[in-house]
Amino acid sequence: MKKLLEKLYVTNTLAKDEIMYILSNINDSLENDLFRLANLTKKNHYGNKVYIRGLIEFSNFCKNTCKYCGLRCQNKNINRYRLMKNEILECCHRGYKLGIRTFVLQSGEDSYFHDELLVELTKEIKYLFNNTAVTFSIGEKSRTCYKKLYKAGADRYLLRQETVNKNLYQNMHPRMSLENRLRCLTNLLDIGYQTGSGFIVGLPGQTDEILAEDILFLKNNNFQMVGLGAFIPHPDTPLSSYNQGSLRKTLICVALVRLLLPKTLLPATTALAVISPDGWNKGIIAGANVIMLNLSPSSARENYEIYQGKNDVSDEAEISLQKVKNDLKNSGSQVDMGRGDYIGWNY
Ligand code: 5AD
Repeated sequence: MKKLLEKLYVTNTLAKDEIMYILSNINDSLENDLFRLANLTKKNHYGNKVYIRGLIEFSNFCKNTCKYCGLRCQNKNINRYRLMKNEILECCHRGYKLGIRTFVLQSGEDSYFHDELLVELTKEIKYLFNNTAVTFSIGEKSRTCYKKLYKAGADRYLLRQETVNKNLYQNMHPRMSLENRLRCLTNLLDIGYQTGSGFIVGLPGQTDEILAEDILFLKNNNFQMVGLGAFIPHPDTPLSSYNQGSLRKTLICVALVRLLLPKTLLPATTALAVISPDGWNKGIIAGANVIMLNLSPSSARENYEIYQGKNDVSDEAEISLQKVKNDLKNSGSQVDMGRGDYIGWNY
């Protein structure tokens, strides 16, 4: 195991069976080695900087039925909302005043926001807020739509693969297809977005082999961003009675991703903060270098419940930022309020 970790640190590669071996056999002391090497790798590229993003959850309408997600259209136990353009711009304004220079616009798959509306929104944000990056996280769209948004000024796009295992994908996403998911990711990379993908750790039916395949998928596509979080059951979904994903395993995956994709932008996700009071810091220590603060108005935030407990950890952005700054000092990191693009990226 020690040799394997060394090889991973030096070459930034692992074979599938090696990833599986680490996932199933790592013990507490070697786990600390893994985190140390991941943190070192991050520091070699990004120093002690942690980038801040502002998340705007602008609609919780969704046409999909992902079994793990509280926004699934079959959940009738949720107040659906949409933020109008002026409300979204208001969120940006608030974030901008705080110094935030990346806005992550996230929603369910909501056809109300048609291509032209999204184009207009993108142009307006880029016009009003100097030197900011716009990231979309709005699911599967046509290649034409991705192109239009890119041309309007969108910089980045987040679309987790969730899993590349066909059976698990199909089981978790009735009505959707892995083929289309992968096509969307290919299109995003090809158009020129800084593209992010990722998965949930601890989904029912997920094995270490599947995890290894999903980690390798990220490596093979060299994504500029990767999002990983533990599975958190939502009461109004078909997976309500399953166990939460493990913190330990999620952190191990974070560290492996850092070592395999040394330059990737890797958030300590809200899902980590939900399952552990010190989750953000733990993520940073395992190799993460991004934190997303929530800029959504509190009425919206309450209803954007992808998983349970999400609201309990998302303070007003002003308060979160102060907390994050303090917490990070203790782990030797420092907040960077810049756009925080992928290293060496020309935009
Ligand atoms: N637990 C953890 N993560 C979840 N997501 C959706 N539902 C859950 C859940 N119950 C993740 C998905 C999605 C991202 C926005 O949130 O991976 O891509």
